[in-house]
Amino acid sequence: MLTQDQVMQALNDVQDPELHKSLIELNMIKSVKIENSDVQLEVVLTIQGCPLKAKIKDEVETALRGIGAVNVDVIFGAMSPEERASLTQVLKKNSTTESGMPSLLRPDSGVRFIAVTSGKGGVGKSTVTINLAAALARMGKKVGILDADIYGFSIPSMMQIDEKPTMIDKTVIPVVSHDVKVMSMGFFAEDNNPVMWRGPMLNKWIQNFLANTHWGELDYLLLDLPPGTGDVAIDVAAMIPQAKEVIVTTPHNVASHVASRAGVMARHTKHDILGVIENMAYYEESDGSRNYLFGRGGGERLAAGLKTNVIARVPFASPEQSSGSSVYDEDSLVGELFRSLAEDVLYKYAQ
Ligand SMILES: Nc1ncnc2c1ncn2[C@@H]1O[C@H](COP(=O)(O)OP(=O)(O)OP(=O)(O)O)[C@@H](O)[C@H]1O
Ligand SMILES: [Mg+2]
Repeated sequence: MLTQDQVMQALNDVQDPELHKSLIELNMIKSVKIENSDVQLEVVLTIQGCPLKAKIKDEVETALRGIGAVNVDVIFGAMSPEERASLTQVLKKNSTTESGMPSLLRPDSGVRFIAVTSGKGGVGKSTVTINLAAALARMGKKVGILDADIYGFSIPSMMQIDEKPTMIDKTVIPVVSHDVKVMSMGFFAEDNNPVMWRGPMLNKWIQNFLANTHWGELDYLLLDLPPGTGDVAIDVAAMIPQAKEVIVTTPHNVASHVASRAGVMARHTKHDILGVIENMAYYEESDGSRNYLFGRGGGERLAAGLKTNVIARVPFASPEQSSGSSVYDEDSLVGELFRSLAEDVLYKYAQ
């Protein structure tokens, strides 16, 4: 005869696949009935029609069979508004400190912030953000991307994310793509207008993005900043002084000159600079020779001006290096380059 305790113990090891917390801790298990070796129970879901039902059912059954259950009958129900509210409290407790500060920002959170900036638009910030994030994730790190380009968001489309995040009241569960947790204003925009968080909410957008997103555990959070040195950069500097910056430029003279403004900004904000990334540095011809379409030296000049180094030169990628998205395959020229950049980043942080 199985006992209630044994059943609860076994279910304690089963996690909600999105929230990465035990079903017991989340109060998702209801009305457990045990008859000898047969167990019937109800799992209350956060949202109706949860796409992960089958996975939850499977894992509950496996866990209970593991302690000797013969027939396992899982029924699904939906949380009442009160239950959702108390679940939100459980999640909030993890994501904000008592003073309401996002927990990620606590000095002991262990999260490393990398802000990807440039002085000029279209040089490849978003490309660098998603490929560096994917490379860090491939190396086993827990990685998130905060698309801080709140008006010109492009991360969801560049990563080919079609789904919308799950919302539990006002808490957002980030969408996972390439093993990276992604949060973007683009998820809430219809016809390219931000509809979700207006007015006062938008003023405190970084705080909201950090505190109202269930990030779970993170090693790295990459922020894709809009071009230039505007409000967003100032907000990020004020909110996340511990962030380190990578500055993206092209080899072109003018681009690097403008990018240096972002660098000067970094000086201002006292963010450490991890280094300069020269993007679209060259095109590799089929015979392996390099064609410097945009000239040469922009990265060097910028790095010298900022007393830092060029930490990567990213060549032009050809479409066949990815399967449609802007995240390049691990074994492509660009993919390998980001892998070695990720290794450098890990090394720099280990110093
Ligand atoms: N190394 C590369 N090889 C090929 N295409 C690239 C490369 N880097 C960027 N691109 C392309 O150039 C365009 C601009 O890149 P991206 O969107 O990353 O720049 P950005 O600096 O984020 O732009 P914005 O300032 O508009 O946010 C995109 O279409 C992207 O796919
Ligand atoms: Mg961008």
